[in-house]
Amino acid sequence: MKIPAWSANEGARRARELFAGAFPELDGPDGVWASPGRINLIGEHVDYNGGICLPVALPHRTYVALRRREDTRLRLVSDESGAARWEGELSSVHPEAEIPAWVAYAAGVAWALQRKGHALGGFDAAVVSCVPLGAGLSSSAALECAMGLALDEVYGLGLATSPAVRAELVAACVSAENDVVGAPTGGMDQAASLLTTKDHALQLDCLTGATTQVPFDLAAQGLTILVIDTQAKHSLVDGQYGQRRAVCERVAALEGVETLRQLPDPQGTLSRLNDPEAVRRVRHVVTEIERTQEFVELLTEGEYGELGALMNASHASLRDDYEVSCAELDTAVEAARAAGAWGARMTGGGFGGSAIALIEQGNLEATMAAVDRAFVDNGWIAPRFLEATASEAGRRINEEEEAL
Ligand code: GLA
Repeated sequence: MKIPAWSANEGARRARELFAGAFPELDGPDGVWASPGRINLIGEHVDYNGGICLPVALPHRTYVALRRREDTRLRLVSDESGAARWEGELSSVHPEAEIPAWVAYAAGVAWALQRKGHALGGFDAAVVSCVPLGAGLSSSAALECAMGLALDEVYGLGLATSPAVRAELVAACVSAENDVVGAPTGGMDQAASLLTTKDHALQLDCLTGATTQVPFDLAAQGLTILVIDTQAKHSLVDGQYGQRRAVCERVAALEGVETLRQLPDPQGTLSRLNDPEAVRRVRHVVTEIERTQEFVELLTEGEYGELGALMNASHASLRDDYEVSCAELDTAVEAARAAGAWGARMTGGGFGGSAIALIEQGNLEATMAAVDRAFVDNGWIAPRFLEATASEAGRRINEEEEAL
């Protein structure tokens, strides 16, 4: 099954409808804002190590219809599974608050913006999304960023006008996730949702914060990226992600640097470490940063034929050294490769979630069929598919302009 991406106007219409149904006494929202999910081409589990990642925005977005209130009340409604309606005070959203996770993602951004000194009040909001949830495709960042863009505009914060100022909005969305939700993630997803441009991958240097738009027009090469949502459980709040991060931070501290990217002599560090688990984790980070640099060089030179081998090596490293893959992800990448993919790897945090395969456009149906078959053979529920065409960052949806 393929998960379609809504057009901007369809998403906006659905958000407006949910808003109208939930808040019939109001004269509609002030506007609709949308922000995308992402895949990461390569550079996995390196963002919190000061490394380089290479995300691409999906055409799948989360849409927020929002209206500013004159008091400090929040009313939220969402069509996402497990979510419902929630009402509370702005002041009741904070890191210690006992609130549903989806509310923490959505309203946590308001808390983070306030903490940075921005004056905000209440709001009514309706959330709809076609980003698959819990699939490792950053549905949470898409929600945070769409909320961030909406709040930025209705409260006149001016944080969305250029990539330079958007960095502050990215930071607020990361803070919502780290501080209010309590997921110790690294920040790639929010940057991907707010800083990408169409037909480009975003080269994100997590040490300096520098971003570079790398041309990524696969269609011109007759290629495409098939995303395989394995439907295996993916959660970043259950400890495994945090444990990986803690090992990296411990080794960096031991070596007197802030991040593993700054190790003066990575090979020396690896030979000095006597904890085999730490060796494997650090080896992944060090080699993944090298692979990502190489990937960007090849992409810039238009050497698409060489990319697949780096994707395969990245997957092996995540599976064997970082140990964040799982049987469903391994099976998905192997089946895609056997069906002719140029390369395939897990994408995002892992422990379930999604894989990506670089394939020839003409091979799309056959690859999906091969992955489907492999899942049936294992007795697993069917995977879901989507195509990752490099899409644009989050923004306000102006429905009249879209219709032109
Ligand atoms: C999740 C996190 C990101 C990043 C990836 C792994 O998506 O949210 O910050 O660490 O995992 O690359």
